[in-house]
Amino acid sequence: MILNAFDNIPLKIPPVWFMRQAGRYLPEYLKVREEAGSFLDLCYNPELATKVTLQPINKFDFDAAILFSDILVVPDALGMQVGFIKGEGPKLTPLTSLADIEALDKENFHKNIDLVYQAIKSIRAALPKDKDLIGFCGAPWTLLTYMLGGVGSVDQKIGRLFSYNHPEWMQILLDLLSDILADYLYMQAKNGAQVLKIFDSWAGNLADDEFDKLVVKPTYRLVKALKAKLKAGGLDHVKIIAFPRGAGEKSIYYAKQVDIDGLAFDTSMSLDWIRDAIDANITLQGNLDPLLLVAGGERLKNRVNYICDVMDGRKFIFNLGHGIIPETPQSHVQLVIDTIRNR
Ligand code: CP3
Repeated sequence: MILNAFDNIPLKIPPVWFMRQAGRYLPEYLKVREEAGSFLDLCYNPELATKVTLQPINKFDFDAAILFSDILVVPDALGMQVGFIKGEGPKLTPLTSLADIEALDKENFHKNIDLVYQAIKSIRAALPKDKDLIGFCGAPWTLLTYMLGGVGSVDQKIGRLFSYNHPEWMQILLDLLSDILADYLYMQAKNGAQVLKIFDSWAGNLADDEFDKLVVKPTYRLVKALKAKLKAGGLDHVKIIAFPRGAGEKSIYYAKQVDIDGLAFDTSMSLDWIRDAIDANITLQGNLDPLLLVAGGERLKNRVNYICDVMDGRKFIFNLGHGIIPETPQSHVQLVIDTIRNR
């Protein structure tokens, strides 16, 4: 269970799951992806998505499962061209005009994305009761970096310039995504997700005024609408974790403004700083370096223990600071879990 980590009773042993825990470091994942045809076909195949979601649970006994999908199914369901090129990552036909923005297919969004809801239903039914199911979406800003830029980039140049050059269009897009993502996450909860995570992977390169406009305000709007829907639907036990990756000291402002239950933080953040800087009612989640997980050995063990020591007594979920990478040895994943549980 990771839901325990949101209660006020401190846990002796933190629960653990990893971002991208179902993925290319597992040969059985690669086999199913092959069977599905492509990565997107796998995301839209409830039976196979269930299979891969459960692989890391069965193998390592993680405390939670995360829906196997991708943040870019949202632009896909809005009618954009989305492809995943092997070895290159995602490629979209970018939005370049107001006409492109107006052509986004909001009306058919839920119909187009229904197979994700079916996958959630199927995963929840197959998952042991003591394992929580995490649903997720990309935050409006991170999605827009792909929808405007067409590809991932280190500096998000196209999206950031678009925000300066076309602030009105940007606002239309942010509002549109905040509202549709609130519905999307609500539907995930309705179909069985017990924790909802908002990935803002590209929150880290923004000036403070742009951070407020592109990251904080849209996420505030999303979470506010989502909480109202969860309450009306009798689902207000569902927890919300946000991950403004790279936000650094702006995390304090972010966590104060956005009404979240959990804050995930990346590898670059100092553990004792974040432990003390963020309101103790907010559960923290992080932040082992995915590369130390590749390196392994005594340093890995010592670091896992150090993270647990610093977070001792704090509401905390053990995770990586970013996704697990394909070259990760499985024995190192097991070592982390054993180290945490044998404390
Ligand atoms: O965490 C999980 O186990 C759940 C599944 C999940 C995936 N993507 C599967 C995936 C989640 C939560 C995501 C989120 C996601 N996707 C983010 C936010 C988190 C982050 O990593 O910063 C982003 C930015 C994306 C967009 C995306 N999807 C990129 C940039 C890539 C290519 C990079 C890469 O690792 O290949 C993907 C592809 C992707 N998403 C894969 C997986 C397992 C690899 C696809 C494959 O099998 O080849």
